[in-house]
Amino acid sequence: MGCRSDAQTRAAHRRGLVLRKSSPGTEAWRHTSMADPTRRAQIEAASVYDALFVPAVFGQWASKLADAARARPGQRVLDVACGTGILAREVASRIGSTGFIAGIDASPGMVAVARQLAPAIEWREGVAEAIPFPDQSFDTVVSQLSLRKSHRRLRIPAQGF
Ligand SMILES: C[S@@+](CC[C@H](N)C(=O)[O-])C[C@H]1O[C@@H](n2cnc3c(N)ncnc32)[C@H](O)[C@@H]1O
Repeated sequence: MGCRSDAQTRAAHRRGLVLRKSSPGTEAWRHTSMADPTRRAQIEAASVYDALFVPAVFGQWASKLADAARARPGQRVLDVACGTGILAREVASRIGSTGFIAGIDASPGMVAVARQLAPAIEWREGVAEAIPFPDQSFDTVVSQLSLRKSHRRLRIPAQGF
């Protein structure tokens, strides 16, 4: 993250999402090793994404997509390529305690930050091409601004997207 600006760093720190030696004990920290600089860099990149890009770009679409998916109490929903989890958190607020929401993402850093922000949601590292849940696990699958290049490799029911 050598190219991160001071403003980006300050924004990420304001959100409390940048891991430092002084922040052990957080969920993301437990999934990180101080001996693993690659993983730390992934988490820092995801933290900056969440602090800057989600509010500026991605956040505004989450409620619209949750509306379109008709997320309602008791549903079982999977957010594919969940990033730091803005859509999954929006869906979680709608399906309530009787529902089940999970998020998967290919990036370990994104998953670590998502888990830090909403520990009650089931977060997993995984790719859209090999969903790490059994068939028929979900009523609805959602994905926001993620699968631009995957559609050629995925078999997606037309009504789902
Ligand atoms: C632009 S971000 C959007 C994240 C999130 N949906 C949001 O709205 O904030 C794209 C995400 O897709 C993930 N991604 C890309 N290809 C993927 C794949 N084949 N399987 C799972 N995740 C993938 C990336 O790791 C990244 O977190």
